[in-house]
Amino acid sequence: MDSDTFFLELPKVELHAHLNGSLSQATMLQLKRFHADSGLEDKTNAFFDEFQIGAGDTRNLTDCFQVFNIAHSLTSTPEALTIATRLTLQEFQDDGCCYLELRSTPKETPHMTKVQYIETLVKAIQKSSLHLTMITRLIVSINRKSSITEAEEIAKLTVEYYKKHPDVIVGIELSGDPMAGTFQSFVPALTQARNAGLKVTLHCGEVCNPVEVMEMLKFKPDRLGHGTCIHPKYGGTEETWETLCKLKIPVEVCLTSNVNTKSTPDYESHHFKVFYDAEIPTIICTDDKGVFSTSLSQEYQICVKTFSLTSSQTARLALNACQYVFADNVRKTLNDKLLNFIGKHSL
Ligand code: IMP
Ligand code: ZN
Repeated sequence: MDSDTFFLELPKVELHAHLNGSLSQATMLQLKRFHADSGLEDKTNAFFDEFQIGAGDTRNLTDCFQVFNIAHSLTSTPEALTIATRLTLQEFQDDGCCYLELRSTPKETPHMTKVQYIETLVKAIQKSSLHLTMITRLIVSINRKSSITEAEEIAKLTVEYYKKHPDVIVGIELSGDPMAGTFQSFVPALTQARNAGLKVTLHCGEVCNPVEVMEMLKFKPDRLGHGTCIHPKYGGTEETWETLCKLKIPVEVCLTSNVNTKSTPDYESHHFKVFYDAEIPTIICTDDKGVFSTSLSQEYQICVKTFSLTSSQTARLALNACQYVFADNVRKTLNDKLLNFIGKHSL
């Protein structure tokens, strides 16, 4: 089996993918066509080179967050959001994903309420599951720019829809510009969701802020996103690193996202290696496959080549990721799929 085929065929679980950051060029073109056909105003004037953030992009981190507005203006109606979800799910499956936890921030637009946003995503996922082999679950996002009231409104809605659709909604997460807001102000909303049975994942340490990293670790989320500035070598402290090593909270790492937004200078110096060597559960993810022009199989390939992992180590990375999925009832199925692949290829 050649290398590309191996990475494509390796059954992969994707645990950190923002819907609006995952829109491919093909999906955005379809959405633009849908807008034109339905007479909806298309305010994007979106050129893909503006949406995509490649290596060496000169925009700062806060500017990078502006690109999501382009996607948001193409997913502001229930129909467009449905198309975006359907096409994106298909792309993850085509890339060899067997399980996806898609995340997205409910937004109020001129065409839909936050309730409709969540309902649309749930319906699109349920409908796609009728013809896809990939299993999909939803994590609802809270943006760090939200007010406390809005965050609590989203947490309440998430709990309500989790009770109605426990087969779809599995978690809640905190994301958005790491320079905006404070973690502490979102603790009541996140706690409300956690107490109702939802799993929690937090974007953590995207910028150097050891005080906030400690607050997040003490909250003991089920998973962390990025975890860039936790080790002292990367802007963390002895305390943040020792606490993570003790708690062993699984971390969703997104190599290309970190390199292209310059949180990490290059692949070689990515914190993946220190996490892997310290046996912190580390899950390879894409973050925003559309914005960063990548795919999960490509992220595995980059990681494996950069850190010289063997095929057996690669397959075990994918196998270990299954342990940290939020949907408890599919863990065994995923595990068996990976073990079957490992056995078939004598890894
Ligand atoms: P959406 O939630 O489906 O609209 O996906 C896009 C949103 O995800 C952005 O507006 C951000 O709030 C969030 N997001 C995407 N990538 C990142 C990241 O690297 N760090 C923090 N938040 C992110
Ligand atoms: Zn993210």
